[in-house]
Amino acid sequence: MELKESIVYAQGRFQRYDEARVGLLTHGLNYGTGCFEGIRGFWREDEGQLYLFQLREHFDRLAQSARILLMQVPLSTEELVEITLELCRRNAFDQNVYVRPLIFKAAEDVGVRLHNVPEAFAIVALPYTSYFDDDRGLAVCVSSWRRADDTMAPARAKITGNYVNSALAKSEAQMSGFDEAILLSHDGHVSEGSAENLFLVRGGKLHTPDVAQNILEGVTRRTIMHLARQELALDVVERAIDRSELYTADEIFLSGTAAGIQYITSVDHRQIGGGTAGPVVQQLRRLYDLATLGHEAKYRSWVTSVYATRAKAVALHSL
Ligand SMILES: Cc1ncc(COP(=O)(O)O)c(C=O)c1O
Repeated sequence: MELKESIVYAQGRFQRYDEARVGLLTHGLNYGTGCFEGIRGFWREDEGQLYLFQLREHFDRLAQSARILLMQVPLSTEELVEITLELCRRNAFDQNVYVRPLIFKAAEDVGVRLHNVPEAFAIVALPYTSYFDDDRGLAVCVSSWRRADDTMAPARAKITGNYVNSALAKSEAQMSGFDEAILLSHDGHVSEGSAENLFLVRGGKLHTPDVAQNILEGVTRRTIMHLARQELALDVVERAIDRSELYTADEIFLSGTAAGIQYITSVDHRQIGGGTAGPVVQQLRRLYDLATLGHEAKYRSWVTSVYATRAKAVALHSL
């Protein structure tokens, strides 16, 4: 199905993507005054089932981002969950998906502000396409662009306008031959990738920038910290990390909903570990895959099934 023919949720109803238009003067488009989420759905061929991962956590973060922008998500988390499930069913997805809820300032006028602007809410869902080549690892550089500080544009909120910061860093990195950028915060500590949180392994412990390092408080980040502590009995330390610690790490990896868990082979041309996937990242990837596909009973509450059990599989077989 082409994107324009797919079903979206906008203006309080399900409609075709190409019917849900916004005007050229829309505030969110002109001033970046919107916030959004990225949610993944994982398809299991053997079960004919689509599992949406940590839906509630994403909608809770959307509410938090909206609050920072003086907005209010018009529906409760439970209503959002139901609409998302229905959206996936209406699109009859039988592959991995990416779901993009979006709330934005919808006034069509001139004048930058946050207050007294009407809001619009939408959810788009589309087939997922890989963000990185999972098997290759990433050669990254430290960006010359700094992560916007909380005193300027809060990274804690997933604000559309903040992605100019990410886009500047990502293009600089890729146009210079790297796969991804690592951004430092204004005071020179490691913050995160252009759209991923960062972890490193040093001295047998897992380290990640704490939430005061201008990071997006990633849903995958929290999942990884949980799996590392509970399943691998690793110490996880949230703290300020220096740039040169990157160069001496045993392993470094990035995490994000779209990106998944990606190991880093080099930083600024310095090889990390053996230049391949290290033992910690390999174990975490395996655990994450099991959890996202609903294989692990313990983590079943992290996934929400789109289809009634086996209904989709039966429907497919009868075709
Ligand atoms: C700037 C930034 N940091 C981190 C992340 C990872 O967050 P999550 O794991 O919730 O997708 C993302 C992805 O959305 C991001 O855009």
